[in-house]
Amino acid sequence: MTDVTTSPSQSFDLLVRTRRSVRGFLDKRVPDEVLDDVFETARWSPSGTNVQPWHICVASGDVCERIRQGFLERAANKVAVKIDHPSDRRLGDPWRARKRGCAKVLYDSMGIDWDDREGRGRAAARNYEFFDAPHAAFICMHEGFGIQSAADIGMYAQTLMLALTTHGVASCAQGTLRNYPDLVREEFELEAEIKVLFGISFGYEDTNVPANMARTQRAPLTETVQFLG
Ligand SMILES: Cc1cc2nc3c(=O)[nH]c(=O)nc-3n(C[C@H](O)[C@H](O)[C@H](O)COP(=O)(O)O)c2cc1C
Repeated sequence: MTDVTTSPSQSFDLLVRTRRSVRGFLDKRVPDEVLDDVFETARWSPSGTNVQPWHICVASGDVCERIRQGFLERAANKVAVKIDHPSDRRLGDPWRARKRGCAKVLYDSMGIDWDDREGRGRAAARNYEFFDAPHAAFICMHEGFGIQSAADIGMYAQTLMLALTTHGVASCAQGTLRNYPDLVREEFELEAEIKVLFGISFGYEDTNVPANMARTQRAPLTETVQFLG
């Protein structure tokens, strides 16, 4: 994957920009050797005092299918979501505008109008199908950890997704996969104290899925970074 004609910094920049959220996967498992490689790399992520607060549940095959069906059945029966960690508060601009921009890119790629509530609902429902991914990694953390350790989890997640990218494996981080954490706890026989923060669906990209045409942008440096001195 890495182009040897580029410098390490260029290769890294390319890797970071190559990763993107994919929302349509082929029915093709990632080989076990690749999974071993990727999760081996991800465990080298940094964390405060090297506490490594992450606990990752990787669901594949029948296990992935059962959890997926659990999500879909609950959604069909309108079972209220019960998340382990509090959600973000409602925030105004610039964050609100960025959220809307992200949603618009996705709906545009799928040919869904902003006013088409049903279409938007269908797009959202794809989350619980895990976008047909053959694997889902549920990113968990003990309830004793707070926001500081959640930052460590973010580092782990990005390392994991970049490691997947180097192997040509696509992914989509999904906050929506925190909605029914008991399904994950039950399947993986987790202690009640282990809480689900989010999930990452992954597998090989189905390039025929329109949602995979979506490309997000980023706010300019001037909006998000202050250089002083
Ligand atoms: C923690 C986290 C949760 C996310 N939750 C969802 C989700 O539930 N559904 C979804 O379609 N995308 C989800 N995303 C993907 C973001 O929308 C996406 O990363 C962002 O728009 C930037 O686009 P890119 O990943 O293609 O670069 C999530 C991303 C992160 C990091």
